[in-house]
Amino acid sequence: MESPFKGDILKGKVSLLTGGGSGIGYEIAAELGKHGSFIAIMGRRIHVLDSAVSALQSLGIQAIGVEGDVRKKEDAARVIDATVKQFGKLDILVNAAAGNFLVPSEDLSPNGFRTVIDIDAVGTFTMCHEALPYLKNGGVIINISATLHYTASWYQVHVSAAKAAVDSLTRSLALEWGTDYGIRVNGIAPGPIEDTTGVAKLITKEVTLKRQKDSAQYRMGKKWDIAMAALYLASDAGNYVNGMTMVVDGGIWLNSPRHMSKEEVKQLSKTVEKRSRDAPVGVPKSNL
Ligand code: HXC
Repeated sequence: MESPFKGDILKGKVSLLTGGGSGIGYEIAAELGKHGSFIAIMGRRIHVLDSAVSALQSLGIQAIGVEGDVRKKEDAARVIDATVKQFGKLDILVNAAAGNFLVPSEDLSPNGFRTVIDIDAVGTFTMCHEALPYLKNGGVIINISATLHYTASWYQVHVSAAKAAVDSLTRSLALEWGTDYGIRVNGIAPGPIEDTTGVAKLITKEVTLKRQKDSAQYRMGKKWDIAMAALYLASDAGNYVNGMTMVVDGGIWLNSPRHMSKEEVKQLSKTVEKRSRDAPVGVPKSNL
């Protein structure tokens, strides 16, 4: 789909994306690149990085891939160094690396819990911390989050805890680093996005169909939807936005079971209004 943003809004910027070799991370990399940014992508699988870099270059984007695991501080430092060595600076950091699997909490080992916390929350902090020296001239950080911790989610106690920590990091770093260095730190909380590992791991086709039947609002988003939000936050369009996690899910997170039909509500409402109109002055409505 064609971007509504001008093609040069990120001209000359340098962006580093963790988890940039595939899925949402790759799509954001491609759109930042198409809008003028030099791109570095980080990931654990070199063959995935290699094919992503080729794809980016075929779009005319100057891109490199650097192997690394966000759980390792030395990898974070090395990847950031390689990015700055290649492009001379760093302006935009997108933390898109994440880990997930569905598991009832009673079957999740503490190490399984820790693994996801390490990737999503500690990894995000490590990347931000290592990148800080390069971002002090008005840099931008975007943390990819989720909505599942706004209430509670089945079989994702580990990811819920991790993403809650990510959102908290987003706010705290926006406060401290925004105040001290003019860095903007924001997040994006995607809904279910088609053709992603997340959806493949978390939702079956049957669940999707059932939810679509229950709500006209329930639909899969596209990776492009998330990339557009990232462009907004990374560019001057989002210049006055800091510490915010933007939900991009078509309104699914608002989902709440309907407890009364519209007809029942109209009836009840009319009865209550009539009762309160007819009530003697000074008598509490609760006594009627
Ligand atoms: C129970 C599991 C498990 C599973 C792993 N573990 N998979 N427990 N059910 N399905 C446990 C292991 O038993 C082990 O604990 C611990 O987790 C570490 O497992 P490893 O396989 O050694 O970890 P590792 O090789 O580092 O792989 C990390 C991973 C893996 C998270 C488990 O799935 C991964 O690399 N994922 C990255 C890609 C990914 O998941 N993308 C989806 C992101 S979607 P023990 O105790 O046995 O040692 C997303 C959307 C979020 O993030 C928003 C949702 C709405």
